[in-house]
Amino acid sequence: MAVERTLSIIKPDATARNLTGKIIAKLEEGGLRVVAQKRVRWDEADAAAFYAVHKQRPFYQDLVAFMTSGPIVLQVLEGENAVARNREIMGATNPENAAPGTIRKEFAENIERNSVHGSDSAENASLEIGLVFQESEIVG
Ligand code: CMP
Repeated sequence: MAVERTLSIIKPDATARNLTGKIIAKLEEGGLRVVAQKRVRWDEADAAAFYAVHKQRPFYQDLVAFMTSGPIVLQVLEGENAVARNREIMGATNPENAAPGTIRKEFAENIERNSVHGSDSAENASLEIGLVFQESEIVG
């Protein structure tokens, strides 16, 4: 298995409920290492750049409004098969479909306010990490 990196975001619904530590604990217990992390507040341009792929989707405007509504925590996670592993730890996008013990099952409020984002492929992980972190901010 290959050591990979993936981008994780702890979303505004989770920071508002002071769940940052509980979410990081699940990521670490799941075998991933936090090799970069920063808490930021996105403006509309930041969210639009990150979610450009969803621009035509009906939920896009709401998503941008939500992701700019409060602080978020950006992270680079590293580990064996980190992209797939993080998606297992997060659970399904819609918390109604998420497996027991996953972050979204335990913490997400609904399909939009779903507590965390994780890259969906190694290619997107690389693009997303490059969008929000300088290489010098990642310390493995
Ligand atoms: P995320 O993994 O950040 O990718 C896109 C986000 O859009 C998703 O998590 C949800 O927060 C949000 N979203 C809102 N509605 C939907 C939907 N119907 N399908 C997928 N994502 C949605």
